[in-house]
Amino acid sequence: MAKGALPGFRDFYPQELAERAYLLRTWRDVARRFAFVEYDGPPLEPLELYTRKSGEEIVGQLYNFVDKGGREVALRPEMTPTFARMVADKANALRKPVRWFSVPQLFRYERQQKGRLREHFQLNVDLVGESDVTADAELLAVAVEIVRALGLTQNDVRARVSDRRLLRALLGALGVPEGQAPAVFGVIDKIERQPLEISREKLAALGLGQAAVDAIVGLTGRVSLERLRADYGTVPDVAERLADLERYFGYLRALGVGEWVDLDLKIVRGLAYYTGIVFELFDAHGEFRAICGGGRYDTLLESLGGVDLPALGFGMGDVVLGELLRKRGLMHAERSAADYWVAYSDPAQLGQAMELAGALRRGGASVEYALKAQQLGRQLKAAAAAGVPEAVIVREDHALILKSLASGEERTVRLREGRLV
Ligand code: HAM
Repeated sequence: MAKGALPGFRDFYPQELAERAYLLRTWRDVARRFAFVEYDGPPLEPLELYTRKSGEEIVGQLYNFVDKGGREVALRPEMTPTFARMVADKANALRKPVRWFSVPQLFRYERQQKGRLREHFQLNVDLVGESDVTADAELLAVAVEIVRALGLTQNDVRARVSDRRLLRALLGALGVPEGQAPAVFGVIDKIERQPLEISREKLAALGLGQAAVDAIVGLTGRVSLERLRADYGTVPDVAERLADLERYFGYLRALGVGEWVDLDLKIVRGLAYYTGIVFELFDAHGEFRAICGGGRYDTLLESLGGVDLPALGFGMGDVVLGELLRKRGLMHAERSAADYWVAYSDPAQLGQAMELAGALRRGGASVEYALKAQQLGRQLKAAAAAGVPEAVIVREDHALILKSLASGEERTVRLREGRLV
């Protein structure tokens, strides 16, 4: 017999499931506070949906196969293509901006490493129909409010923001040909994960001169809008993007999340479809992989569904977030014990106990009792072990006693319309 789950897949025992439920409930609560509504799509999609748009990295990790009808299909590795297709299909009928969220389980055949599994749950929050940075600020605020709601602070988690259009304009100002920009993005994306010399060599190998290489490396260090304005503000494309970013940071402050956010041009995002502001959330000590990532993808709906609508969104996974919360002692599992344990003094009263349990359950309470007739003492021990707060004891004279299992306090109660009074 096979032992354990497949590598990268998890068994959720009740404790782990309670933790997952806590995370997912917080995601849903905060997304709803920002007036996003929930949707879902199919877990299995045509392979082509990803090979066309997701970018090499995800395509290399697909769980794909040919189904019995000869169709090339894949388990969804991300939600964005499904979301873009669904919105594009009904674009005319939908109220704009579209503000939707979803909590899909996703599948990627990843290399085994900390924080990366082969399945994970991912909150997706996406917004369609607004091209101004007001929407970018709104979106990042959702991500930050989630980590805040989970008990983390701006000293624990940082949002790192960049703008692909700004970076393109800066590269243009440095004389990097338009066609080279994607390759330079690729080097910048990896700049933190490899020795700086290697990154420099790769930039030089693209035909860039020493001055351009130095300037690009400089951009990936600590930068501020003021510094960029001083150095590149006379370039019209750059000035325009800086003005938008200035407003963006102003809106983030207005929404109460400005203190969590840093400008960081190293954030490029691996996925192919991003076009504008992009961001990732990381733990402040840099111990874990990204908690969340997203950005603007203004051309994806056009290319997948022929609908020209601006869009943006992010995905936040349960794996890294769970590791971080556990490390900080902030992972709360939801209580799963029953409300009452029905016990009885005389084993012959099992039937009466079942009737009482039935009535309480129909009244909305969660109720357990010993399935095998036992002595009262053993029943109460079992109740305490199950973590149930109160026992209802059916006495031999049929009176009902409500007993607190913590304090031992007792009082006589009666059943009225499915409730104890
Ligand atoms: P992503 O950066 O590939 O973006 O994933 C977003 C987040 O999902 C990551 O930051 C990480 O927390 C989690 N995640 C991704 N892969 C794994 C994995 N193998 N194991 C555990 N966690 C993982 C996207 O997927 C975009 N579609 C997000 C998006 C939505 N962009 C716009 N809307």
